[in-house]
Amino acid sequence: MLPSIEQQLIRSGQEHLLHYWDELDSKSKAKLQEQLETIDFDLFRHLVEVMRNREETTAAPEISPCPFTSLDDPTADWDALKQAGEALIRQGKIGVLTVAGGQGTRLGWSGPKGTFPATPVTGKSLFQIIAEQILFASQKYGVKIPWYIMTSVENDQITRSFLLDNNCFGLDRTDIFIFPQGVVPAVDANGKMLLVEKDQIFMNPDGHGGVIAALKSSGALEEMASRGVEQLAYVQVDNPLVKVVDPTFLGLHCSDQSSGEVSSKCVLKSDPDERVGVFCNRGEATSIIEYSDMTSEQTHEMIDGKLAYCCGSIAAHLFSISFIENVANDLPWHVAHKAVQHVDVSTGDTSVSEEPNAYKFERFVFDLLPLASNSIVLQTKREEEFAPIKNAQGNDSAQTSMKLQRERAVTWLRACGVEVPEDAMVEISATTADSIEDLGKIELPTEILAGEIISI
Ligand code: UD1
Repeated sequence: MLPSIEQQLIRSGQEHLLHYWDELDSKSKAKLQEQLETIDFDLFRHLVEVMRNREETTAAPEISPCPFTSLDDPTADWDALKQAGEALIRQGKIGVLTVAGGQGTRLGWSGPKGTFPATPVTGKSLFQIIAEQILFASQKYGVKIPWYIMTSVENDQITRSFLLDNNCFGLDRTDIFIFPQGVVPAVDANGKMLLVEKDQIFMNPDGHGGVIAALKSSGALEEMASRGVEQLAYVQVDNPLVKVVDPTFLGLHCSDQSSGEVSSKCVLKSDPDERVGVFCNRGEATSIIEYSDMTSEQTHEMIDGKLAYCCGSIAAHLFSISFIENVANDLPWHVAHKAVQHVDVSTGDTSVSEEPNAYKFERFVFDLLPLASNSIVLQTKREEEFAPIKNAQGNDSAQTSMKLQRERAVTWLRACGVEVPEDAMVEISATTADSIEDLGKIELPTEILAGEIISI
């Protein structure tokens, strides 16, 4: 073992990680040493502090409803904002950022979530839907729009292969920048890291908020600067309806109503108990609070006959690059108490307790919001932009998402004068149109037949 690492272990009270060192063969020794070399011990000591200072309070969080701008607001000049956004896109100022570190476990899918087949007629993957939206916008605005994809250690290789095997869905390989998110060690109640094997420390992904540090460490921020990209459109991989390149949103974000640092989209919650992040104010700062952190009273609070906390987050944001550069290390860490299987060094046994025994650390991207000086929340139309795929069955499943995707396609086609019977299954490819306006410009069938299954 390198003396410098041994010193670090002693200074951090982690000598137990070498408990089995003498009995390891050379391959296992190399594996453990390599893993130890990747650990940022300064960060680790900070995480232990975070764990020790965590607040386990049941008191209601101090929040208040936050203002938002609605697309239905007739006083705003939406056309002008759209044109301003389009001009910025044409100038190559925008890139797309997708966080795709998650596995499809909740969905019962064994690969990266982005490879999940998501559309109702052609079964295109979640990655393909985003790629095709970028391709469409690149062609429409005559500009390259780079795509930054955050993977995890677990799914990085398979994600790269998936994109290459599919010819990057028509995008230029050089316009796609893939980088894995970081991992951090978990600790027990005494601040000790856990061995998952005698030669392996338990580490977990650092949350989607890890994207900010990973953008910096991977060189993606420099790559953006060299292209002249100034704004990033952030989307999760799991929402096939989200409008990835949205000029109106960009125009608003860069208007004088905003600091142009962070803006976010929300939808009206479908019901008070919908399991989404909720926009609120904490003090003066616009924030998002997870539904699970609100009290039932807050969740159901009404003001003037309307739900006080009505804005659900669809996790779609715009971030300025200069803002991200400045706050890369400022995102707070969240602590979760979880059951982690590990080797108990006092007995040598593998503990498989169901009881939480470890504190895991994660960062959330939405903690960027309160760091911005003036953050805008745009309420968009749910039926146009939110059909997440989270669960194998029930709410937010592939089935509910495909139904919503079909409904939007039907709405667009009918708005363009096409008759669509109730039992027809339709899909509009992201390479065909990104709006009713664009759909209206192409030649469409005048009518779709009963029972027809068609992709346009
Ligand atoms: C998330 C949001 C919620 C929002 C909802 C909208 C959180 C904590 N909650 O819920 O506020 O209303 O989406 O659909 O974010 N990911 C990584 N690395 C990680 C963890 C996640 O890349 O370490 C990615 C996933 O691949 C996915 C996205 O982040 O694209 C969302 O992750 P998930 O943890 O599933 O959040 P949700 O519970 O869906």
